[in-house]
Amino acid sequence: MSQSKSRITAFGTYVPERILTNADLEKLVETSDEWIVQRTGMKERRIAAPDQYVSDLAIQAVEDMVRRYGVTVQDVDMILVATSTPEYAFPSTASRVQSKFKIVSTGALDLNAACAGFVYALQLADGLLCSGAYRKVLVIGAETLSKITDYTDRTTCVLFGDGAGAILLERDEESPGVLASISGTFGEGGIHLYKTALSEQMDGTDLKSGCLVQNGREIYKWAIRNIPEGVRTLLSKANMNAEEVEWFVPHSANLRMIEGINERGPFTMDRTLTSVEYRGNTSAASIPLALQLAVDEGRLQAGDHVLLYGFGGGMTYAGSIVRWTI
Ligand code: ACO
Repeated sequence: MSQSKSRITAFGTYVPERILTNADLEKLVETSDEWIVQRTGMKERRIAAPDQYVSDLAIQAVEDMVRRYGVTVQDVDMILVATSTPEYAFPSTASRVQSKFKIVSTGALDLNAACAGFVYALQLADGLLCSGAYRKVLVIGAETLSKITDYTDRTTCVLFGDGAGAILLERDEESPGVLASISGTFGEGGIHLYKTALSEQMDGTDLKSGCLVQNGREIYKWAIRNIPEGVRTLLSKANMNAEEVEWFVPHSANLRMIEGINERGPFTMDRTLTSVEYRGNTSAASIPLALQLAVDEGRLQAGDHVLLYGFGGGMTYAGSIVRWTI
């Protein structure tokens, strides 16, 4: 039985205008369209303008949501922003969103769970609504990974892009939409994907300072080994089988990796939604961007069940089965 008392009532996204193609990357580093497509499935990513930061993307996603669904955000009582690339350590991105929309009375906080951030934020919002203390929560996943990417490092610069997604989650005891959730972390793997902040060491190991650093192979192995099992655990917690879930929406890190997960897991690629091909890896924004593409293509319909599964730096993960109610 679901403990949830909330459902999604509106949804919007935003990606910056500038497109970075594989051909553009061929001019920056020694790589090729063939290598990138074969190893990652990526063709393009969107890149924020130099003066465009994560709060700008988040605000645009909220504006898109307001336009599409005719909702107001003036009465939200909490803003949660999942991001690893805030423009300030503080004030929070959520406070910037509050300020832009002049919301008179709301809580506001950022959370960092890397690429699992959007699903974590959704789960926290559901918990707040379940408590009865909150009635309407704005959940945003937004990233400007291009601003922490080293464009001289071919092993990372081909992967990442920028974007944002926003949902409104409202209390609804009669027809809740968040059916089951799991989360977890494997902190020992933190060294495989990091960006330094105040410290330049981790557990005695010197770190490379400044940009995002990753050990792609280790992440790949961890994801393939753990995510199929996590997906099965989540299905079992919801007392559902994979046939009852219309869409699997894993974090869009890499298409080949998602294929590897599906080879070992209960879903097939034709029931998997991704944003990886034309958006790259957008971390906390990748799941909402995949949902948006599916809504726009008419694939994702009200009443469908989606299994969202974020994973990444930490190494951390969070999965939720959600009934799509809009
Ligand atoms: N173009 C051409 N050659 C490249 C490139 C590139 N862009 N990048 C690496 N290579 C080369 C390497 O130098 C290496 O050459 P060598 O054999 O002469 O040493 C060769 O290609 C193979 O390199 P690997 O790193 O072993 O390549 P792999 O097949 O593992 O693919 C990749 C790399 C795509 C990064 C893969 O490991 C991967 O996708 N891992 C998961 C990464 C991921 O998902 N990260 C994000 C998760 S969390 C988050 O989203 C923040």
